[in-house]
Order: sequence, then structure tokens, then C-alpha cells
Amino acid sequence: MVILGVNVDHVATVRQARKTFEPDPVMAATLAILGGADGITVHLREDRRHIQDRDLKILREVVPCELNLEMAATEEMINIALAVKPDMVTLVPEKRQELTTEGGLNVIELKTHLREAIKKIKDQGIPVSLFINPDRASIECSKEIGADMVEIHTGYYSETKGHSQFKELERIKDAVAFSLSIGLKTNAGHGLNYYNVKPVAAIKGLRGLYIGHSIIARAILVGIARAVGEMKNLIKEACMNV
Ligand code: PXP
Repeated sequence: MVILGVNVDHVATVRQARKTFEPDPVMAATLAILGGADGITVHLREDRRHIQDRDLKILREVVPCELNLEMAATEEMINIALAVKPDMVTLVPEKRQELTTEGGLNVIELKTHLREAIKKIKDQGIPVSLFINPDRASIECSKEIGADMVEIHTGYYSETKGHSQFKELERIKDAVAFSLSIGLKTNAGHGLNYYNVKPVAAIKGLRGLYIGHSIIARAILVGIARAVGEMKNLIKEACMNV
């Protein structure tokens, strides 16, 4: 069965909006695991806009399943990965102004740099995945420069509808089949939600799906009535004693 890695970055985004202690992405991660997550993903960004170094360190201690560290292939991040030792590293492109990771890595252009980064991480026994667009040239190049895995970008599929979406799904299917045929473990992710996940999850041979936004968005909505009820009870209790 395809594994589910839950990305808890958005929990940290809410916390950082107030720079307070809640909601803690570490608590969210343990609850996600209790709910059936096979792994937890966090993206430690250069600007630390959501996940903090402290989160990653505690997650390493408390996550008993796959801890996937998403990061840019910079010297700072590589040093952090080597010190924390996540179960895997996913290298992603990173731009300061972007709302989320906007596209796959340009593996062909960054070949030399990525090859060195992959080697440094793999030399310490940490498997490396590359987040790439669903095209054969990127997949072939990922294999050539030593990646263990790829994560196929499903963002274009998620953003389209109807026939265009069907075409994007075919592109992803072809990319997965090609990637598997050259011996790469193959994952997929980005923009997947409760309405579009099934056709992707059904792709034969896929190892894992990495999903964040939609799960955290739903968690807010399914949890809001209970959260309000709990606050209301505290207020009622206080009023009874006046
Ligand atoms: N995979 C990668 C490489 C990502 O950068 C992200 C977003 O952080 C995801 C998966 C999850 O995407 P989403 O939040 O849209 O589910």
C-alpha cells in the first residue's frame, strides 16, 4: 500500500503568526501518527518562516516512523540534516518570496551541485529524494546523480480540471512507470486533497504520498466546533462562580 507522509508545516505557520507556543507542530505530528500517518514531513526553510530548528530536533526524538526533512540543498541545511539525521531528506527548490514550493528542482541545470549535496547526505546513511516535475529527463538525471528516490510534483495535476487534469494524470503515470523502470523509489505530492487524491493513490508501484495543506485545512474545520465548546465551558464555569 502507498504510505502517507503528513506535512505539518502549516501548524507551525499558525504558531509563528503569534510567535507563541501553540499550536505545536510536534503535538500535531504525534496526533497525525495516532491517526494513521506513516510518516511526518517538515520543510525547514532558510527564513524559518514556519518550522523552527527546535521543532526538527524534538520531532527526531518523538517520531517513531519516517521523518522526512524537506530542504534546499544549501550548506547550512546539509549540516543540519547530518546532525539531526532524519530518515530521509527531500531536496526541493526554495525561493524566499514563494507561498509554497512552486515547481520541481531543475536537476539538469543544478546537476553538479545536487550530485555533491546528495553524496554528502548519503555518505552519512540518509536516503535522498529529489522533488521533480513529471518528465523523463529529470528522472533520468536524478538517477544519474545518485538519488535514491524521487517525488513527482503533482501540483500541475491539482491545479487543473477536466481534460487537462486527465492529461496531467497521464504524465504522472508515465513518470512513475519510467522512474520505477530505472530503479528509483517513487513518491508523489503537492496540492493533493480529498477530491483529487484517489487517481494518484491508485498509480501502480507508487511508494508514498506527501500531503500537508489539505489535511491541516480539514483538521481546522473538523476541530473548530469542539474547540469553541471547550472555551465556552471554561467561560461558563468562571461565570458560575461570580
Ligand atoms: N511535497 C513537497 C516537496 C512539498 O514542498 C510540499 C509542500 O510543502 C508537499 C509535498 C505538500 O504539499 P501540500 O501542502 O500542497 O499538500
